[in-house]
Amino acid sequence: MSLERIVKPHILALEPYQPGVPPEQLERELGIEGAIKLASNESPIGPSPRAVAAVREAVASVHRYPDGASFALREKLAGRLGVSGAQLVFGAGADEILELLAKTLLGPGDEVVYAWPSFAMYPIVARGMGATPVQVPLTPDLVHDLDAMRRAVNERTRLVFVCNPNNPTGTSVGAEAFDAFAASLPDSLVLAVDEAYMQYARRPDFPDALTWLRRPGTIAMRTFSKIFGLAGLRIGYGVADAELADYLNRARHPFNVNRLAEVAALAALDDEEHAERSRRVNAEGVEYLSRELRALGIEVWPTDANFVLARTGADLPARLMREGVIIRPLAGFGMPDHARISVGLPEENERLVKTLRRLRESGS
Ligand SMILES: Cc1ncc(COP(=O)(O)O)c(C=O)c1O
Repeated sequence: MSLERIVKPHILALEPYQPGVPPEQLERELGIEGAIKLASNESPIGPSPRAVAAVREAVASVHRYPDGASFALREKLAGRLGVSGAQLVFGAGADEILELLAKTLLGPGDEVVYAWPSFAMYPIVARGMGATPVQVPLTPDLVHDLDAMRRAVNERTRLVFVCNPNNPTGTSVGAEAFDAFAASLPDSLVLAVDEAYMQYARRPDFPDALTWLRRPGTIAMRTFSKIFGLAGLRIGYGVADAELADYLNRARHPFNVNRLAEVAALAALDDEEHAERSRRVNAEGVEYLSRELRALGIEVWPTDANFVLARTGADLPARLMREGVIIRPLAGFGMPDHARISVGLPEENERLVKTLRRLRESGS
């Protein structure tokens, strides 16, 4: 018997998330060594040494379940952010917070409004619950069109995502526009601000989503995967008004964040120096890549994140891949001429630029 008859129709229709190709896979397929991946917006400098030490120590205790309440991490983060511990919800990556929002709020007939192109998980979590994704195109400058998003909100809307800075464009909205948008929303929906890249934002008027936690039904989502370099451990969190945080905490599994991730996150929060180095390496990489790509005649957008959006032409990602350099093509986002390039270590960025020059010179 085919299971098609019993699987929910919206799951049958679901297209899975396409992760970046791992370098090991490319090396296997091409029979090469030394492939580099500038495709998943990971931290090129690696995890904080303090986090690594904390994981080493904690690994001897993995026969025990983690602290399901994440007490130590909750206390530290609450103090850092100036919120109460009850306003926090932890997840296996910010991805899980997206899932928890969907599970808590959405069902068939409900609508989810978000910008497009934006993070590919928004339509996936919405469709996964049988809800209807409502995509609002970015402006011609590739920024969230908050006026159009407001107009897309109706009585069926349960959830609005604002990805700030936006993945995959690196663009951001400023405080004035964001505040006006947040103030205009009805109280019958949840405003979810995805701040996965907020620590890289350079604009001085970057919005403070936390000031909106006074609005019932508001959540800011953050992650330890990017600036803190812990993507492989899977830990992220939401900061919400206490009522929403309570519902999300009810919906999560009791031990959704593993013990090693918890101790690593705690240690990473104390390693200011590492976070600062992450930021600096990124800022220098953004500057280098933007300058060198433009010198090659490739259009590059200003970015507030740890990647740049470039108009590379449709075939360049595949050509680079054959040279062992993985970047992210954006055809699946309706931007076939564009690619997203994550900032790497200086030598990785240089390898990309040299490969581009070589491809250009050989005309291949
Ligand atoms: C905008 C955005 N939100 C959320 C996530 C998920 O991050 P995490 O690794 O914490 O699940 C990502 C990951 O790339 C992202 O780009």
